[in-house]
This record gives sequence, C-alpha cells and structure tokens, in this order.
Amino acid sequence: MQVPERVTICEVGTRDGFQIEPEFIATEQKVEVVDLLADAGVPRIEVTSFVHPKTVPQLRDAEAVMAAIRRRPGTRYAALVPNDKGAARAVDAGVDVIHTVVSASESHNLANVNMTIAESIDKLRAVAQIAARAGVPVQCGISTSFGCPFEGDVPLDRLEGVVARLVDLGARGIGLADTTGMANPRQVSTVLERLIPRFPGIEWTLHTHDTRAMAIPNILAALECGVTHLDASIGGLGGCPFAPGASGNVCTEDLVHCLHAMGVATGIDLDRLIGVSRRVEQIVGRSLPGQIIKAGPSTRRYPLPDTVAGRLPPG
Ligand code: COA
Ligand code: ZN
Repeated sequence: MQVPERVTICEVGTRDGFQIEPEFIATEQKVEVVDLLADAGVPRIEVTSFVHPKTVPQLRDAEAVMAAIRRRPGTRYAALVPNDKGAARAVDAGVDVIHTVVSASESHNLANVNMTIAESIDKLRAVAQIAARAGVPVQCGISTSFGCPFEGDVPLDRLEGVVARLVDLGARGIGLADTTGMANPRQVSTVLERLIPRFPGIEWTLHTHDTRAMAIPNILAALECGVTHLDASIGGLGGCPFAPGASGNVCTEDLVHCLHAMGVATGIDLDRLIGVSRRVEQIVGRSLPGQIIKAGPSTRRYPLPDTVAGRLPPG
C-alpha cells in the first residue's frame, strides 16, 4: 500500500465539535483543551469560528478563546470564517491562518451561511483581501463535497467549479469536507484523481465525518492518492448544526493510532492525546465515540490466562 511517510493533522474538535455541543463549554475549558492538544504535539488546531454569535452561540467566545490560549511555537492556530466580518475578527484575534467555508451544494450553503454559493464566493473574495493585507494565509474548506443531506449526490463538475473559483481568489489550500459522512473510498479516489492534477500546487486536506463508519477507509483512499493533510476531532466530537444527521469527525486519537501502526509519522504523542480525550470526556460529561480510548493501542498486552500459562510450545 502506498502511504505518505508523514501526515499533518489539523485538530478541529474545539470548532467542529464544540459548536454542536448541547451545553456551552466554558471559555477556560476550551482554552485548556486547545493548550493540551498543542502540548500533545498536534501541529494545527482549528480553535474556533468567527461566525454570527446567534447562529452558533456555543462559539460566541471566539475572541476570548484566541486571546487566552498559550501560543506554542510551531503550532498553527486557525479559525473558521464565513465572510469578511468574520475575517476581520479573526485577523484582529491573531489567527495564524484563516479557514473559510462554502458548500458544494446550494441548499446546504443556504442552510449554513444564508447565502447562495455565488454570494459566498463574493464574500470569500473580500476575506482573501483582508487576509492578504494582514499577511494571513487562507485555506478554503468546501462542505458537502461528497454529497449533500438535502440534494444527495454532488456532481464532480460542480465541486470542480467551486474549487476553481476558490483557487482563482488565491486559496493555497483546499479542504474537501464530507459533512455528513456520505463519501465512500472509491468516490474519494475518483474525486482526488480528477482534482489533484487539475490544480497543481494546492495543499489538499480531507475533512471527514464518521457518520457511516467510513471515515478511516476514506482517509486511506486519500492517502493512496497522495493527500497528506487530514482534519480530525478529539474523541470523535463534531457535527454541523445546519446539516441534518451530521455526527462526529474521524476521531483524532483513533486516526493517529492507525497512522502510527502503519508507520506514518504525525509528530503527535498518542498517550498524551488519549489523556486529552479523557479530559474532553469529563468536560462534555459523556463518553465519546473513539475506540482507542476504550481498547488501548494495538501494542497493549494482557496477562496470559491460567489455562494457557505453561502450555505454550517453545519458540
Ligand atoms: N461575526 C459576527 N457577526 C456577523 C458576522 C460574523 N462573521 N457576519 C455577519 N454578522 C452580523 C452583521 O454584522 C449583521 O449585524 P447587524 O444586524 O448588527 O447589522 C448581522 O450579522 C447580519 O448580517 P448578514 O450578513 O445578513 O448575516 P446573516 O444573518 O445572513 O448570517 C452568517 C450569515 C454567515 C453570518 C451566518 O449564517 C453564520 O454565522 N453562519 C455560520 C454557520 C456555521 O458556523 N456553520 C458551521 C460551520 S460549517
Ligand atoms: Zn465538519
């Protein structure tokens, strides 16, 4: 199997995860989780989003969170923005990179950001200008890239058209998001085999949700196509409030475990990451979908049962 030697993970749990938590997570706890993730060696963190506080009240403390996190050297702190107002707030808050959002399907874009795709792209042009003036890079995420909960299939031509418009306005990175876990591995390969050669020089990120237990298979398909940037969410938190049926992202510690088992480096300390996940479970007050926190890593060994001890053949 062809896999890259190294993969860069962006943790999105404090944004994609905390945005959909039923209870407001206290600002200090959000900050604590961001700092713990950075200490575990997570190289990129999508800390929060600068969206309308009434639309996503759970992240209404975005400025306060950005102001209070400890900026670990080498960690890249990003935030999601839908429009120019969000970009101005994010730049003022000192983000290292702006992540934008637009959908590949009109209905999800309207449900999510109250704009048509064309209106969103106009706003993102303004975002790109604000970011360029501030010297902040922009990475553009595309929701419902692999299917829309309202419209079903999203034609590849349509996705390609959205990518082209984002590249045109200066995106250096494109994130393909499977917002409600509709993608399958073969589709991921088909999409990437078409888009990667068409847009040379773009840094591609796959943003998965494990809604239908296909996140890791989809990621493996992307790795085989040469993708080296992946979004993931601690414990498997996550979900879009404006996409019915949305559930958690691929779980960061499960993904890191899988990558390390295959010999793919991430720079992340898995034991520390599992510790962060335990802390997040305490904060949200329930157990999360991640498997490794329950099973332990595959290197875990159990004591031999009495019925077996002493009966093993030599060697
Ligand atoms: N941050 C804070 N306030 C914002 C804002 C932002 N990024 N963007 C717009 N506003 C304010 C405007 O200033 C205006 O305020 P006013 O009424 O006091 O003048 C008001 O919101 C309405 O502006 P408008 O551009 O008409 O926004 P809208 O009501 O159509 O909402 C979004 C558009 C994009 C702001 C809103 O749909 C949103 O925040 N969506 C985010 C969805 C999300 O986070 N989804 C999950 C991630 S995929
Ligand atoms: Zn998501």
